Amino acid sequence: MDCMKEWLEPIIRVQSLSESGASSIPKRYVKPPAERPGQVISPNEGTHGSNVPVIDIRSLVNESNPSDEATLRAISQACRDWGFFQVVNHGVSAEMMATMRDSWNEFFRMPMAEKQRYANSPATFEGYGSRLGVQNGAILDWGDYFFLQLFPESIRCKEKWPTCSTTLCETTEKYGRELRNLCRILTQALSVTLGLEKTMLWRAFGEEEVGSSLRVNYYPKCPQPDLTLGLSAHSDPGGITVLLPDYRVLGLQVRRGDEWITVKPVADSFIVNIGDQIQVLSNAIYKSVEHRVTVNSVEERASIAFFFNPRGDLLIGPAKELVNNDRPPQYKFMTYNEYRLYMRKLGPCGKSHIETMKA
Ligand code: OGA
Ligand code: NI
Repeated sequence: MDCMKEWLEPIIRVQSLSESGASSIPKRYVKPPAERPGQVISPNEGTHGSNVPVIDIRSLVNESNPSDEATLRAISQACRDWGFFQVVNHGVSAEMMATMRDSWNEFFRMPMAEKQRYANSPATFEGYGSRLGVQNGAILDWGDYFFLQLFPESIRCKEKWPTCSTTLCETTEKYGRELRNLCRILTQALSVTLGLEKTMLWRAFGEEEVGSSLRVNYYPKCPQPDLTLGLSAHSDPGGITVLLPDYRVLGLQVRRGDEWITVKPVADSFIVNIGDQIQVLSNAIYKSVEHRVTVNSVEERASIAFFFNPRGDLLIGPAKELVNNDRPPQYKFMTYNEYRLYMRKLGPCGKSHIETMKA
């Protein structure tokens, strides 16, 4: 059997494990000691101290001042220091965000048999899934998800779009368009802060043909949250990720040096992070940053990640404007279709992938 067409092992839904009421987790979810979260994060408090920067992008969104220096400086600083930032006044209405979240929460509350109709396979990963990576015996994460390719529309797998709710499909469609537009604005800001022509990154990503996908993450309650993770440490393979976080329940952590910082989302914000493709295009001026998700025993958690990626068949490498004698090209060229196979085969593995791309 081809391991990139079908799962080689039976798929267990983490939601079913959680709802079984068992007081311990199966061995397959137990991480090696070095990867365990250490201190368990309280779902509502997290750690004290630092938080990823919060940036008001109103001036960029309504174009009242599209080259607003202070905003661009804040973005540039956040990209260099953190690889992560939160945006507020991003132009997507709180109502739209709430409808999107509610519709997907409803999906995960449906009977298992209904959800199973959308079970995914490693061929495209679209649909209802419970693992990344295809290797037999791999240690798994404590989370289920729903993955959809949104753009370009021509490559959508229509059969995987839930037919159970028209609101869900319509909302997802509309949300996708709004987020794509937000990402276009963000690529402009990133281009300018890198010293590139404003539309450079948008063009490098394929303009109207940019790729985008959606991953709705569902992390059920876990009886032994100190032994596992909802999502293991990884950097996002694509360009830019815009996450609709769970404002009630904490869990996302970002690596800063040797520390894991718990993100505390401010009301109605999106969490933005740089992916590997921007690290490559910027010739490592901006770097993708590792992040992971912890789980807890009292509250489930949901998040919706929008991934803004280069069109799959374009060769992506360091922008020529950012290459010179002092700073030779740091990475080889590769298409995103090829690049993303690594994570699809091996699952989340820190930043090991981009290491293999060194020129
Ligand atoms: C992801 C991711 C974080 C979260 O889907 O790539 O990092 O909080 N999600 O669910
Ligand atoms: Ni991620």
